[in-house]
Amino acid sequence: MATILGIESSCDDTSASICIDGLIASNIIANQLVHQNYGGVVPELASRVHQQNIVPAVQEAISKAKIHKNDIDAVAFTRGPGLLGSLLVGTSFSNAFALANNLPLIEVNHMQAHILAHFIDDKPEFPFLCLTVSGGHTQIVLVRDYFDMEVIGETTDDAAGEAFDKTAKILGLPYPGGPLIDKYAKLGNPNAYKFPEPQIPGLDFSFSGLKTSIMYFVRDQVKKDPDFLANNMNDICASVQERIVTILLNKLKKAAAEYKINRVAIAGGVSANSGLRDALNSTAVELGWEVFIPQFQYCTDNAAMIAIAGYYKYLKKEFVGQDIAPLARMYF
Ligand code: KG4
Ligand code: ZN
Repeated sequence: MATILGIESSCDDTSASICIDGLIASNIIANQLVHQNYGGVVPELASRVHQQNIVPAVQEAISKAKIHKNDIDAVAFTRGPGLLGSLLVGTSFSNAFALANNLPLIEVNHMQAHILAHFIDDKPEFPFLCLTVSGGHTQIVLVRDYFDMEVIGETTDDAAGEAFDKTAKILGLPYPGGPLIDKYAKLGNPNAYKFPEPQIPGLDFSFSGLKTSIMYFVRDQVKKDPDFLANNMNDICASVQERIVTILLNKLKKAAAEYKINRVAIAGGVSANSGLRDALNSTAVELGWEVFIPQFQYCTDNAAMIAIAGYYKYLKKEFVGQDIAPLARMYF
């Protein structure tokens, strides 16, 4: 028996989860609404709200899992990558909890955890490819084993989530804009406007040019018609989403062909996008891929993915000492 407490605090969601023998018994997520007024995450505010939320989130995770604090066998926490002040809250809490209860500590890489979220439900066989798309990262990862992963392609500038969020900002939508673009896109024509596909060699991505072209497009159209945005919001969102999704899918197809792998997963906040999910499902039919799409609650940041990653490290007895420090940048 292994009961793991997972803690996630890398960005603007405070989350705690209990994983019992590889099954998620609770996953509590406290979102931070304070950032909406600023059009992006304010690191200092995020740290302060984590500090307020972390104890109640852990208490709720324990009670929802119907266990007692003394049943916990190890504490797994996000060491990085992320905002340093936010990571410090989760790391310090985990350190203190482990010390007070005499438990081993397990460090987890947030990007690996997004991928390992796939082992909560239908577990893919190794090797598989995973497109990890979040607010801070865009990577194609060759996953050979639980902790044997290699980044074979990544963004050279903005992340896919940033492309969604920055477009939303240009369109006057609140932060985070990704889910709103997804919502409006469902009502629009994806072929209404054509935005350019960047020509980046290999398996790498670039999204900054797309953002600039959207900015100029909107500026020029609004000059001609001040109501352009209000009257065409659905079509603009559908067209932008279509371009971001084709950029992602084209590189994923290239990677699958080069590495001769037809097991393909998506992970991270942007994997909640309905356009990406639909496109992946139709590519699966077209190319005979076996695809893995996480449940919505495990796409965006959550501690269940930290707890499951912690569980697999617990089985290998991979523990860290009390001197562990968080890392804003963390590679694997
Ligand atoms: O993985 P995540 O929760 O946090 C990071 O580690 O960054 O990802 C957050 C990102 C944000 O950019 C958000 O706009 C985007 O995921 N996102 C979406 C959708 N849901 C969340 N983007 C497009 N469509 C969605 N449905
Ligand atoms: Zn994330």
